[in-house]
Amino acid sequence: LVDTPVSRLLVDWYDVHARTLPWRTPPGAKVRPDPYRVWLSEIMLQQTTVAAVGPYFAKFKGRWPTVEALAAADEAELMAAWAGLGYYARARNLIACAREVARLGGFPATEDGLRALPGIGAYTAAAIAAIAFGERAVVVDANVERVVSRLFAISEPLPGSRPRIRALADTITPDARAGDFAQAMMDLGSAVCTPRNPRCDACPLTSACTAYAQGNPEAYPVKPAK
Ligand code: ADE
Repeated sequence: LVDTPVSRLLVDWYDVHARTLPWRTPPGAKVRPDPYRVWLSEIMLQQTTVAAVGPYFAKFKGRWPTVEALAAADEAELMAAWAGLGYYARARNLIACAREVARLGGFPATEDGLRALPGIGAYTAAAIAAIAFGERAVVVDANVERVVSRLFAISEPLPGSRPRIRALADTITPDARAGDFAQAMMDLGSAVCTPRNPRCDACPLTSACTAYAQGNPEAYPVKPAK
């Protein structure tokens, strides 16, 4: 499907409410952000907040404007530039991945091809495929898990519910505007469908949300019993 009922509501909301972030292009833009920007931002965002990543993303893009430049980076200089972001395995994988991409002559354009690169797991491969290449990839992070758990009032606790969450996320993912849909889910999860005190009054998906209809969105996702 080009659109799904949920994706139409969500992407319409994103057209108005998308966060402006340094690695993004505006919603609905004809040009997609290049894969180097998307990859670099997604690696930095893996264990670090959007606010903290901003200055580091700008610094790296300024010092190493292309993946070829990063592949040729001095390792000690790169590690020093990374200082403060933590999780240094990410920085070591960053160089390894840049070298592999330079050797390949560019980023692979498919989820499977991306998944084979150092430091790129299932989530990151799906995010890059959707955002940089417009592929219909099912992008599931913790925000998306929460949104989907609420939309469908999934009663099974995490982590056992993950396959079901992924299958249901697949049913709402559109063919068109894959990157905007993925980032709209992230923005909704971060600004509206928050873990505590979700702002259902500002949510474009209440008409489709079972947890909202039940009046207990905070009950989802159900946590594993201790
Ligand atoms: N977190 C991870 N990837 C993101 C993105 N592309 N936009 C906003 N938050 C994110």
